[in-house]
Amino acid sequence: MEIGNLKLNSKILLAPMAGVNDVGFRALAKYYGADISYTEMVSAKGLIYGEGKALTTPLNPEFVKQNPEIAKNKSSWLLFTEDIEKIKAVQIFGSDPKFMVKACQLDLLKKFNIIDINMGCPAPKIVKNGEGSALMDNIDIAKQIIERCVEESDKIITVKFRKGYRKNNAVEFAKMCEKAGAKAISVHARFANQGYSGIVDYSLMKEIVNAVNIPVIGSGDITDIESLKKMLDTGVEGVMVGRASFGNPVIFKELNEYINGIKKQPIENFILKDDFFKDVLTENDLENLKKNEKYINYINAKKHISILRKYYSENFLIKYMRKHMLWYTNGIRCNSELKQKLATSENLNDSLNILKKIIIN
Ligand SMILES: Cc1cc2nc3c(=O)[nH]c(=O)nc-3n(C[C@H](O)[C@H](O)[C@H](O)COP(=O)(O)O)c2cc1C
Repeated sequence: MEIGNLKLNSKILLAPMAGVNDVGFRALAKYYGADISYTEMVSAKGLIYGEGKALTTPLNPEFVKQNPEIAKNKSSWLLFTEDIEKIKAVQIFGSDPKFMVKACQLDLLKKFNIIDINMGCPAPKIVKNGEGSALMDNIDIAKQIIERCVEESDKIITVKFRKGYRKNNAVEFAKMCEKAGAKAISVHARFANQGYSGIVDYSLMKEIVNAVNIPVIGSGDITDIESLKKMLDTGVEGVMVGRASFGNPVIFKELNEYINGIKKQPIENFILKDDFFKDVLTENDLENLKKNEKYINYINAKKHISILRKYYSENFLIKYMRKHMLWYTNGIRCNSELKQKLATSENLNDSLNILKKIIIN
């Protein structure tokens, strides 16, 4: 797949997800084969004014010392990237073309190759400001935003949207995006007010693919090879995986192996390439992994935390990481007492030990 002048090595991407796609998780997704791992959506106005999620002392003091300018802008705390991300993609949201253009021109976004514009978020607090999926009901403003961001920034502009807000206008919207200069579109083919209920509209995905000449990326309910095939059968050039990657970045390896028709590579070999895991991996870990494939979740959690510690404070991370740590236990039978301990842990090293115990037992 090619997006603008960027040639991708894989069709499988990590979907943008607010509250989930931190720099550590994105790096893991990339390692396992998501060629693009989008940031979560970031407010254009927030970036311009330096406002963001009100978190108490979330940054690592060492990082603040070395990056005082970045530390001042709270929204930029969502934009950390690692070198492993060769193609960097940020998603922004907003409804005012002026602010959207200004955000695209910010130095803070300089390192990104792709700026994806969110026109699909159904959250009431976003929609009530005319942002996210509300733009599907305001196609003129949506068009102005895309046209101006394309014209007035040097970034590759892409757009992510849904089937419509309440009425299906996805084909018309897709054509508008292409005409306005978007280099690719991603579609989650459910109505905004549908949340995750019902099924993804695969025939609509086919119609969209036939209506435009830019790459279409399919999003929604991809959890395994069967669901991947179903989405690829619509003719989309790429797919995004969202919820199925929670605690399971290895899914990108598995789906890529299927697409490339290659034999499943043993996980213990796969994690030795490129020294990515070098700072966290011990001989004992490798032995445990050979005995139990699920042990990869412990190794992933260790790497996830080691990346996040470069940027964020321990105080912030212990609370933030609880949901990820619980996701790393998905599919593993364990007693509820240990899970409860993980959910309430006040120390990251303790959390890792509990996770290890859950996996090994
Ligand atoms: C927790 C969560 C946060 C999300 N945040 C965003 C977001 O910031 N931007 C966006 O375009 N979509 C967002 N989405 C939608 C996903 O990108 C994706 O389109 C949707 O979850 C369907 O894919 P899935 O079935 O693979 O999860 C979010 C989804 C979830 C579950």
